Amino acid sequence: MVRSESPDLWWKAVYADAPITTQWDDGEYTGAGKGRMPTSSSSMPTMVFSMLSALDVEAGNRVLEIGTGTGWNAALLCRRLGDQNVVTVEIDAAVAQEARSRLLAADFDPEVVVGDGSVGYGLRSPYDRIIATASVGAIPSQWIGQAHPGAVIVAPWGPVYGGEAVARLVVDEDGVAQGQFIGSSAFMRLRQQRKHLPPTGQFLAPKKWPAGAAKSKTALSPDDVGDWICMFAIGVQVPDLFCRVDWGEDGSYRLWLFDTGVTSWATADYVKGRAEFEVAQAGPRNLWEQLEGAYGWWHQQGRPGFERFGLTTRGGPFREVWLDDPNNPVPVRKDR
Ligand SMILES: C[S@@+](CC[C@H](N)C(=O)[O-])C[C@H]1O[C@@H](n2cnc3c(N)ncnc32)[C@H](O)[C@@H]1O
Repeated sequence: MVRSESPDLWWKAVYADAPITTQWDDGEYTGAGKGRMPTSSSSMPTMVFSMLSALDVEAGNRVLEIGTGTGWNAALLCRRLGDQNVVTVEIDAAVAQEARSRLLAADFDPEVVVGDGSVGYGLRSPYDRIIATASVGAIPSQWIGQAHPGAVIVAPWGPVYGGEAVARLVVDEDGVAQGQFIGSSAFMRLRQQRKHLPPTGQFLAPKKWPAGAAKSKTALSPDDVGDWICMFAIGVQVPDLFCRVDWGEDGSYRLWLFDTGVTSWATADYVKGRAEFEVAQAGPRNLWEQLEGAYGWWHQQGRPGFERFGLTTRGGPFREVWLDDPNNPVPVRKDR
């Protein structure tokens, strides 16, 4: 949308509490409408402010932002802390260039770095605050290494399966970052941590469903396991699980489960009004049973929301997700 052509709509869009996609497909798609994947945006204002509130900056803090995007968040940080205390890293050179011009036009002059924020930005470290506006599945160890003891890291975090929430972590003297999730989010993934999932065709090929899979029935409706928080609870317990949905008629669908190691798959068929649902499972892991176990644990805990979960990490893939207390880790179901 161009401001000079539709000023009313433009202002409405800019002030709506919604994310505005500003780039598709890493800039490859520039046509009208949507491309395949949103790759840069102006985040939803309530999300921006809740993350800034969690970041809890104090006068004099030096802040690193990962994901400059439009530059809006960087401008808010500059306004509060002064240009000299704000470094923002953007991987896409064109996006960074536009943000830089926009920031200068609004009288802000933070350091806008074109680079890979998944390794932070060591040259201006250590930081008192680090905020990521693209999501991760693993907190990079460099962010922790570039943070002062006592520094706060605010970053959207989510497992492969789905579900995502903003983590607020405090870094300690030993290089451990720990803290609770503050609420649900749905950010675009940091470029280096995009989910590169195996093509699902290769799980059954050359056979067709049911491909000799073991069949059974379940009383757990596939329709009861699709909420964002439920997906999060399942995804943290079964870290290498991913899913797809094949839609049928009248709202019925087949939920497919796969593991990223390409060893096993399962399906659960949802049909409206039924009390029992057909399941097929193949491979050494019974993925539907693992999902049921993960769902059962979450249900037994009183179906906790994002805010009851927390994360402990030294950076990288090794992490622990816990419930209510760091001494109460969420079980991880790795059984094959
Ligand atoms: C949701 S947008 C950021 C919104 C932005 N903070 C604002 O105020 O408009 C996410 C941005 O992260 C950028 N990004 C993705 N991976 C990155 C990486 N490894 N390093 C730096 N930026 C990255 C994307 O290009 C995109 O511009």
